[in-house]
Amino acid sequence: MANDTKKLWSGRFKEGSANLLDYFNSSLYFDKKLYKEDIICSVAHAKMLAKCNIISQEESEEIIHGLNKILTEIEEDKTEWFKKNKSEDIHSAIESRLINTVGETGKKLHTGRSRNDQVINDVRFWLKGEIKEIITHLKHLRITFINLAREHLKTILPGYTHLQQAQPITLGHYFLSYEQKLLRDIKRFDQNLKSTNVLTLGSGALAGTSYPIDREFVARELGFEEISSNSIDAVSDRDFVAECLFNISLLSVHLSQWAEEMVLWNSDEFKFITISDAYATGSSMMPQKKNPDIPELIRGKTGRFIGNLVGMLTTLKGIPQAYNKDLQEDKELLFDSIDNIKIVLEIANEFLQNITFERHRMYEAASNSFINATDVADYLTKKGVPFRIAHEVVGKIVAYCIERKRLFKDLSLSEWNSFHELFGDDIVNQIMLESCVESKNVYGGTAPQQVINAIGRAEGEHYED
Ligand code: ARG
Repeated sequence: MANDTKKLWSGRFKEGSANLLDYFNSSLYFDKKLYKEDIICSVAHAKMLAKCNIISQEESEEIIHGLNKILTEIEEDKTEWFKKNKSEDIHSAIESRLINTVGETGKKLHTGRSRNDQVINDVRFWLKGEIKEIITHLKHLRITFINLAREHLKTILPGYTHLQQAQPITLGHYFLSYEQKLLRDIKRFDQNLKSTNVLTLGSGALAGTSYPIDREFVARELGFEEISSNSIDAVSDRDFVAECLFNISLLSVHLSQWAEEMVLWNSDEFKFITISDAYATGSSMMPQKKNPDIPELIRGKTGRFIGNLVGMLTTLKGIPQAYNKDLQEDKELLFDSIDNIKIVLEIANEFLQNITFERHRMYEAASNSFINATDVADYLTKKGVPFRIAHEVVGKIVAYCIERKRLFKDLSLSEWNSFHELFGDDIVNQIMLESCVESKNVYGGTAPQQVINAIGRAEGEHYED
């Protein structure tokens, strides 16, 4: 079955295209998202064509007027506008509508331009704004972590390695561990903004153009900082898309680690946090349930983000230069990741501000274990015992206690001394949880004073826009 709707490229064809081809080939249902960017970039192109005397001033004005009219038309009723338009993509849709609106002059807009340099210019123009939005969300989330760190300078909880109690830490220090990951994420997106901020218009289909165009002018009009310097590369380069999908994936991996802790800490076994009712969900069957759907979904979205990254890289692998239709597959992946990461960042921030951190529970969890064993060894080491020997002695004390179902705090001085004569009665104070964290007073350590210093440094870096 053939379709008789006229294509922008119908000149060399005798027959209309098959319906199934049109259906398969069409990207309008997703690239319509770029209608505004497509129009803004076309306006800049039309201005430049007149400035360079490639079309007349009047023709340019007529085109620009038509484009603005189309923008209003679309914004008045998007659904209706796109239902009526049967074009294969957003670029053809707007160009054919322009020709219908302003007549013959509209046919001059595409002078010195191809959809190959146009599509990626639109994507770059759109993505710049999106990356900026992501960075803003990231900054807000980072500030929340910093504020929580300030609130919990002295809150003590068990620190884990291998999910086994390892050493006591301050909750403030824990929050700043995520602040650091987010700071690196912000820097990666800043870098990505630079690789995205490149004008590709002027590259034509792949070879450049023979018209005396002014690419600097278009770059200035659209706020691009750079101009692509190889037309073949310009129409095929999707590195900045892959970078963005990677940055989103890594950011999401970071958030999934935090989300996993929130799920765990919300369990009856941990009870380190209480989620406020507005940010938890219930079960349709079990009346007692209060589920942490938000962090579970934040954790779960990571699969989608990594999938989109792998999808993009796989699409790019092995395609020959320059533009190939495969590249049309870039947009849905990108749109999906961008839409999802924005909501993830927004809800992560709200969720974090609607949790009560149960300091007593955390303290209790750290109190009923041998989490301070390293500090016992350090006590002896500071009195001259080589660390390896101290480690062995404390290992024996731990085994002794486990056999008798006792903790360090239950031992008498003579029991301590039966393991080593250098233990004095100050051992009790030296291994209190507060002493343990205060003693980690090294740059980057968990001591409250170090957390205060780290907050100061964090506020100095990338803090506000
Ligand atoms: N819809 C296309 C895309 O998204 C636009 C470029 C089409 N170019 C072409 N030569 N058919 O990649």
